[in-house]
Amino acid sequence: MKKPGPHAMLPEISQEEQSRLSFFVSLSGAARKGLKPGNELIYERDAKPAFVAEHGREPATVEEVREVMEKQEFYQMWTALSRSQQEQYVDCTGSIVERQLPDLVRRFREISGDAKLGSLELDPNLDIPYYQKESHQHCVPLSYYEELGRDDVYAGARADIGSYAYSRGLRGLYNDDKGLSGSKFLKENFPDLNPGRILDLGCMSGNSTVPYVDAYPDAAVHAIDLGAPQLRYAHARAESMGKRIHFSQQNAESMKFEDGNFDLVVSHILFHETSRQAILNILREVKRVLKPGGVFLHVEVPVRRDTPFAQFLANWDSWYNNEPFWGILARTDVQALAVEAGFDEDRVFDRPVYSQAPGGVFRKGDGWWGFGARK
Ligand SMILES: C[S@@+](CC[C@H](N)C(=O)[O-])C[C@H]1O[C@@H](n2cnc3c(N)ncnc32)[C@H](O)[C@@H]1O
Repeated sequence: MKKPGPHAMLPEISQEEQSRLSFFVSLSGAARKGLKPGNELIYERDAKPAFVAEHGREPATVEEVREVMEKQEFYQMWTALSRSQQEQYVDCTGSIVERQLPDLVRRFREISGDAKLGSLELDPNLDIPYYQKESHQHCVPLSYYEELGRDDVYAGARADIGSYAYSRGLRGLYNDDKGLSGSKFLKENFPDLNPGRILDLGCMSGNSTVPYVDAYPDAAVHAIDLGAPQLRYAHARAESMGKRIHFSQQNAESMKFEDGNFDLVVSHILFHETSRQAILNILREVKRVLKPGGVFLHVEVPVRRDTPFAQFLANWDSWYNNEPFWGILARTDVQALAVEAGFDEDRVFDRPVYSQAPGGVFRKGDGWWGFGARK
């Protein structure tokens, strides 16, 4: 794995750390690409016939597939390996940030004190919703929002290098594939859209936000997140990259923006980390803050699968990787939620957003799961 693309906030990764990280990245590749298909072989050879012998029919639901697969030693081994490599890579990226945290905080203070492009507005009284507080998504201690001290940027810095390593560097040196792919999708599917104001929801360290600045250079780009450490880091990162973005700490379920404020609202892999009710609340807010004719696009991990077995494998993260809403999103009719939120049924869309990353994280024909609506 190459080192991530440079910018002034990027934690330094020593040669030893890079080797350690590369080891976990290879291990993750082996678990996700090399070993994972073995589960299907075991299912067809052992687990399914055992279920058929007992019930006289094939497993028909994810729960039934899970019941037989959990007894399989291969699946147990693969699960243990996948979970432990996740914990180890989180630990590895966390320790890289921790050892240089005072310097990162200093860099944040310097850059933000001198910010000439965008802005940062934090709200120390913001209530963090339960789905963030209680789940510590994908086994990350401190989650996205907890703080270690004044002007903390730990969670943002860890998320930047952590998400880069999680995707094995295959989603671009700046881990910006979702934003690049989303903006390309919008240009192709909504060529008349010339947004003057853009909003990115759940921006984390701002990796997916930056491509919209480049795609629509005349637009005012805003981005929100729950986590102050994310926003501090994202702000200083964007400033150091010469990108004008206005970051603010807000809950996407109840935003401070006035009605009809944006021509384009985007979000990336936010919904699989929020509850079904939160998705509905967010969609209502998106409808409210969009101008008439404005577009909403959400770019998501393709969590839905066609068969109970494929869905069972796709749900692994819900059970063993602290991603409780992943499987729920797969079962949620988001189009129906968009209509419930007030969008016209014939203006709601659901289409793949094809990946622009050179590394090819998706199989041919696959893409991110794109859905959204035009107001
Ligand atoms: C998986 S990360 C998204 C990453 C980022 N959009 C990207 O593409 O790299 C989810 C982010 O959404 C934020 N988030 C979750 N619920 C939110 C909410 N209700 N309002 C605002 N941000 C939220 C989290 O703090 C976290 O930074």
